[in-house]
Amino acid sequence: MDSIELLLTRQSSPQLVAPAPNNTALDTILKAGMRVPDHAGLTPWHFTIVAGNSLQTLSDIFVSAYKNQGAAQTKLDKAAKMPFRAPLIIVVSCCISDHKKVPKQEQIISAGCCAHAMQMAAFALGYGAMWRTGELAYNTDVKTALGVNTEDEIVGYLYLGTPTKTLPQKQSKNYHHYISYL
Ligand SMILES: Cc1cc2nc3c(=O)[nH]c(=O)nc-3n(C[C@H](O)[C@H](O)[C@H](O)COP(=O)(O)O)c2cc1C
Repeated sequence: MDSIELLLTRQSSPQLVAPAPNNTALDTILKAGMRVPDHAGLTPWHFTIVAGNSLQTLSDIFVSAYKNQGAAQTKLDKAAKMPFRAPLIIVVSCCISDHKKVPKQEQIISAGCCAHAMQMAAFALGYGAMWRTGELAYNTDVKTALGVNTEDEIVGYLYLGTPTKTLPQKQSKNYHHYISYL
């Protein structure tokens, strides 16, 4: 796949199964994540790789966080299943530092670019991926359990694997309504 085809056809895959990206592919995906625009070279991101037995650990973290909120059993059951929507998850977090030239939002944008770049790399390698957040990306207990400081941010859970079926290619959105000329 050439780079323009990648940019014009990337799409998410909500239903992912094994095989996960193999070690070589994961290496490429992580390298793509490291290649993003980064003001002042702060590398304000961290990637937590979750696979194998760790999917159960993440499931337990999600359930425990909701239990602490007194959530209903149906919500606990749903949360328990979430990490099993793919064989591999990269939790992308942003370690925010106080920098006089690089405000918080720029650091979060860079970490977001990591998630996007890694999804693009996965897609180019023939894998599927889906960037998810939801309440559990903003939950203090989850952050703590994942070693993310409470003042830092989880910018996304990037679910990775093999799509269960070849999805029809989505139509591209027309840019005409989203541009203007000064
Ligand atoms: C920061 C961020 C968080 C997202 N969180 C979710 C989510 O929790 N659940 C979800 O279904 N889609 C979520 N999405 C959207 C999907 O990743 C995806 O982009 C969307 O379903 C559109 O599909 P496409 O990527 O094929 O265009 C999120 C996207 C971004 C950028």
